[in-house]
Amino acid sequence: MADGSWYDADIDRVIISEEQIREKTEELAKQVAVDYADADGGILLVCVLKGAVMFMADFARALGRQGPSSEMEFMAVSSYGSGTASSGVVRILKDLDRDITGRHVVIVEDIVDSGLTLSWLMKYLQSRQPASVEVVALFRKPEAIKVPVPTKYVGFDIPSEFVVGYGLDFAERYREVPYVGVLRPEVYARS
Ligand code: PRP
Repeated sequence: MADGSWYDADIDRVIISEEQIREKTEELAKQVAVDYADADGGILLVCVLKGAVMFMADFARALGRQGPSSEMEFMAVSSYGSGTASSGVVRILKDLDRDITGRHVVIVEDIVDSGLTLSWLMKYLQSRQPASVEVVALFRKPEAIKVPVPTKYVGFDIPSEFVVGYGLDFAERYREVPYVGVLRPEVYARS
């Protein structure tokens, strides 16, 4: 498609550009690199599938250029509950592949919405005796937070609108959109 992408007509407006994401990712990686400069064993990045894959890939590379070494782990969780509303009860679909005892863990998340997923995940990881657990989240919807989560590193606070892109989906689509945009209401009204 020479004249644009398949999703152009579905996006109402861009709220965070590719350039902004790139700059913010470098900035967050710099902060983490400074804070973990002396971390024994480097950093264990834990990506929460699927939304965080884009950020994980870019953040890990930015961190690698300026910080200590890191390793990657992936978890998949799903919250019980109906539709888009999180219930706070989380089911593990894919667990860690290795022991995290004594490791410096950084959870890599795309978005903190209600905070329920992260709140559960932090407790879960902390119960496995790591040296530390912190969170880096690229986006946060402040109005929607039901559970305060100590998210040490946050990229952008975004409005509570229906946003997609850079990992964020609507019915599993739009994750590959390279920026974050607001979905046109007609798109979710017709499904
Ligand atoms: C999203 C996001 C977080 C969670 C945040 O995942 O990646 O993990 O929701 O919501 P909360 O703060 O209200 O708990 P989702 O369950 O949509 O799965 P996905 O990453 O596969 O899209």
